[in-house]
Amino acid sequence: MEDMFRLVDCEEMFSKRCIWVNGPVIVGAGPSGLATAACLKEQGVPFMVLERAECIASLWQKRTYDRLKLHLPKHFCQLPNFPFPQHFPQYPSKNQFIDYLQSYARHFDINPRFNQCVQSARYDEISGLWRVKTVATCGSVKNEFEYICRWLVVATGENAECVMPEIEGLGEFKGDVIHACEYKCGERFKGKKVLVVGCGNSGMELSLDLSNHNASPSIVVRSSVHVLPREVFGKSTFELATLMLQWLPLWVVDKILLVLAWLVLGNIDRFGLKRPSEGPLLWKNTKGKTPVLDIGTLEKIRSGDIKVVPAIKRLNEGCVELVNGEKQDVDAVVLATGYRSNVPSWLQEGEFLSENGFPNGWKGNVGVYAVGFTRRGLSGASFDAIKIAGDIGQLWKQETKQKKHRTIACHRRCISQF
Ligand SMILES: Cc1cc2nc3c(=O)[nH]c(=O)nc-3n(C[C@H](O)[C@H](O)[C@H](O)COP(=O)(O)OP(=O)(O)OC[C@H]3O[C@@H](n4cnc5c(N)ncnc54)[C@H](O)[C@@H]3O)c2cc1C
Ligand SMILES: NC(=O)c1ccc[n+]([C@@H]2O[C@H](COP(=O)([O-])OP(=O)(O)OC[C@H]3O[C@@H](n4cnc5c(N)ncnc54)[C@H](OP(=O)(O)O)[C@@H]3O)[C@@H](O)[C@H]2O)c1
Repeated sequence: MEDMFRLVDCEEMFSKRCIWVNGPVIVGAGPSGLATAACLKEQGVPFMVLERAECIASLWQKRTYDRLKLHLPKHFCQLPNFPFPQHFPQYPSKNQFIDYLQSYARHFDINPRFNQCVQSARYDEISGLWRVKTVATCGSVKNEFEYICRWLVVATGENAECVMPEIEGLGEFKGDVIHACEYKCGERFKGKKVLVVGCGNSGMELSLDLSNHNASPSIVVRSSVHVLPREVFGKSTFELATLMLQWLPLWVVDKILLVLAWLVLGNIDRFGLKRPSEGPLLWKNTKGKTPVLDIGTLEKIRSGDIKVVPAIKRLNEGCVELVNGEKQDVDAVVLATGYRSNVPSWLQEGEFLSENGFPNGWKGNVGVYAVGFTRRGLSGASFDAIKIAGDIGQLWKQETKQKKHRTIACHRRCISQF
């Protein structure tokens, strides 16, 4: 700790763009960052939330399509210490979820610093502090800041950046090409032949939306996919699986899910949707791939309104050539090819962070934490947030108790929210 104060005294560190933060810096003001901030409030720990966008929950507000609803029942999706309003339906719409998150931030008085894109975060061994560098954008003006803190909470999400695939001939293609994150509604594609690349939850639902808006979608399924009904006999499939996992081993639950899926959806293989050899839960755990929860796409595939096609060989000016040799005219391409984390580009840390994210869960060694990276969606984020706030809260109480016994002259710029 002595080293810390030596470093804090260094004039260079406290130039006007260098900011000391009491308590943790939380990077990201999505559901994970907000949940952590709210839990820290409950613990009496001050914090600073840094967000690259100019609003909270930017994924939900800016990069999702209009018809999106939460695909798990609401009680699995609410954040800690603040339930959804009672009148919300079982599967809240995206706008309802955004309203909820805004109320959540207001309720806990969470005020992130917006337009602060974290460029790097490095742990300083000597001082035992984190140095978090951001670029803040205000119109065309860019400013660099450095935040110094004892703890760092990574809350930038598993879906921070779009995955743009390399497809031969994509540059030659003359029609519109958009990523799923830019897709709002099928209206603009009315009457067009649209190639949807990717058959995750995004690709499946966008194909449905396109078909509902009188476009002609073809969905590219290059490998295998698990499709499960969102509900089985009126009960959420996810909820059933969660209940069964309390009593049965995962492989048994997987078998039951496949039987139920077959009873409700029939054999999907005949539509070109090949199931992986592992069951849906094992597939998720080992490959990190989320099973598709069907909300009507299969019916459209069955009726022929949505066509399933194999992998792309190449694109030409106005058509696609598939690996089976077939050629199809295409007016537009929607890349529903998924998302990835951006943490490796800015977090300079070699133990907690690995190629696969944070395999050891929510807590690293040197005051670094990760929330929302365990592939368990919103419920996983809430779980992490509670643990992280509990851990930091305990350390905060110990350290502040010690500090009360020493008088420290502090005339430096010191901000954090509380
Ligand atoms: C279309 C879609 C639908 C989904 N539906 C569901 C669902 O129904 N249920 C469910 O459980 N999960 C769903 N998910 C997964 C979903 O992403 C999350 O559960 C939830 O948004 C995760 O919250 P998060 O805060 O961890 O990440 P995000 O919501 O992605 O928030 C991360 C925040 O960090 C900010 N950020 C990123 N990089 C930086 C940086 N370098 N500096 C500063 N700020 C940064 C981002 O701008 C963003 O605001 C869906 C995902 C997508 C793409
Ligand atoms: N609430 C909801 O209803 C909802 C809606 C949308 C998304 N989500 C969630 O958001 C997250 C992201 O989902 P997502 O569907 O966007 O991404 P995803 O699950 O990662 O799926 C990406 C898809 O793109 C395919 N793909 C990638 N590159 C390709 C290429 N070059 N050619 C052909 N196919 C290619 C992948 O195929 P391979 O498997 O072969 O790699 C996969 O099918 C998931 O957690 C999902 O559950 C939820």
